[in-house]
Amino acid sequence: MSNVPMTQTLISVIKAGLSQLGYQAETGEINLEHPAQSQFGDVSTNVAMTWPAPAQLAAVAPRQRADQLVTVLHELLNQPQWHELATAIAKITVAGPGFINFYWSEHFLMAEIDRAVQQRTPTVLKDSKPKNAIVEFSSPNIAKPFTVGHLRSTIIGDAVARLMTAVGHTVYRDNHVGDWGTQFGKLVYAIKTWGNEAEIAASDRPIKKLVELYVQFHQEAEANPALEDEGRAWFAKLEAGDAEARRLWQRCIEWSWQEFDQIYQRLGVSFTENDGRGYGESFFENKMEPIINELQQNGLLKESEGAKLVFFPDDVLPPLMVIKKDGSTLYATRDLATDAFRRDHYGPDITIINEVGGEQALYFQQLFETEKLLGWFKPGQRVHVKHGHYRLKDSKMSTRKGNVIWLEDILQAAYDKVDSQAQTDLNEAEKWRIAIGAVKWHDLKRESTRDIVFNLDEMVSLQGNSGPYVQYAFVRCFSLLQKAGWQWRAEQPPQKLTSFDVSTYSYTQKERELAAHLIKFSEVVEVAATHYQPHHVCTYLNQLAQLFNSFYTESPILADDVTAAAQAARLYLVFTTAITIQFGLDLIGIDIVERM
Ligand code: ARG
Repeated sequence: MSNVPMTQTLISVIKAGLSQLGYQAETGEINLEHPAQSQFGDVSTNVAMTWPAPAQLAAVAPRQRADQLVTVLHELLNQPQWHELATAIAKITVAGPGFINFYWSEHFLMAEIDRAVQQRTPTVLKDSKPKNAIVEFSSPNIAKPFTVGHLRSTIIGDAVARLMTAVGHTVYRDNHVGDWGTQFGKLVYAIKTWGNEAEIAASDRPIKKLVELYVQFHQEAEANPALEDEGRAWFAKLEAGDAEARRLWQRCIEWSWQEFDQIYQRLGVSFTENDGRGYGESFFENKMEPIINELQQNGLLKESEGAKLVFFPDDVLPPLMVIKKDGSTLYATRDLATDAFRRDHYGPDITIINEVGGEQALYFQQLFETEKLLGWFKPGQRVHVKHGHYRLKDSKMSTRKGNVIWLEDILQAAYDKVDSQAQTDLNEAEKWRIAIGAVKWHDLKRESTRDIVFNLDEMVSLQGNSGPYVQYAFVRCFSLLQKAGWQWRAEQPPQKLTSFDVSTYSYTQKERELAAHLIKFSEVVEVAATHYQPHHVCTYLNQLAQLFNSFYTESPILADDVTAAAQAARLYLVFTTAITIQFGLDLIGIDIVERM
């Protein structure tokens, strides 16, 4: 079997057919569709309707043009050079106004399944244009709660990074931690005035203590506005490198990382840049001046009431402030410095992906537009992957803690739920895998821009479209394979299987559907990676679990009266399902379990 996927070969033959009929072959890309209903074939194309017809065919209806093309395709497939493709296609039909539908042959499906089994991993094709990309995600703030927004960013960003890596891009995982800004002056003041460093250090949730001190600062400042000046004075010291200010600020960073590290470890997420902590905002503290100058030289800065702002041509966007009227810099100033650094450090063709909540969409537009005006990047190099809000259905969790949703509580709630509904005697590690899988899937299963409602029952449901539902399909595969004597531990590849003769068996309808779905995996990964949209993987895996379950209830495997050929063909499907689920879940950061 060649390494070119059969769909690519199919596209080539369609192009050959079109040019034989006089169509301009350069007209465009041919994208094959996968019809949702299997009666419309495994792949389908609308070229007969969408490609501009050559002059001599202009009067011919699209439906007839489709018929013509199919006739030519049949002729081509009879030629030796298309032999392999010819054996992969069982039938070609024309439907509706001019769709052309292709049906894979059973021989081809079985050969593909056999190949997956022999490789012991599903095929995932590499992108033909590998990129260097930074995926910046998570980006919590020092001394502030790691919110569910950061959780979403962590889960989605990690999945995007994994997907891009899988298709062959070089991915740098960065974390733009919020560790700089005037609020640190207030915090330093609060710690010195009301805090107890030893107590904070000894606490297992130091961030909570820091948040309390910060809140106290604001309460006291209401009665005593002079405190604001104290805060400002401490930030000025921090900027000037005052030892005491720096020391306390540094401690806040370490205390916060104590918690962040735990969270990342729990979620199985890591970063590659700056020793695994990412380049936080403070890293750019001394890199902003040249940016201001560059903006100035390009005539992009205007003063307004003492502040300096970037105004956009024709006011397509509201202006972006980069210097406050007291002369201090902002979040935006640091972001500009960050991207300049990235371009210098990683090279001018770097793709930069920011996974940040949709509420910052306007801000990122302003940022991207400014960078465009500066001529820093080409289209496509700057990407904002957005996520929607995370809302609470049951407000108990929010009232107990004030209006912050603490991430630990979400994870713990998922764990407790898994614990209470577990039927097998699972150990703690297994329960965590299920709980984390449930939380991540809940976040990834729909387009990230959409809002989600925290719903524990839905998260851990075994009935469908949940992490545990898909993990459970794997468990079924796993236990079948074990019973059939196929050795497989998660940490090592399963033992090689003997090949079976595909000509001795014919798939049932359900088996055929399962096989046809299995061989689509690579294309799904490609789509998800290209569009930075992990939910495509979830949709695919959820369908896979459904197809597997209906195959599983219908096709006996280990019963005495199952023929050797049927058993082998079915075990091959089980095996390919198992490796595809394992690989697919891993792409979105979810572990499998071997029992549930
Ligand atoms: N720390 C910010 C927040 O919590 C997110 C940072 C996003 N990244 C960026 N390059 N601005 O809202």
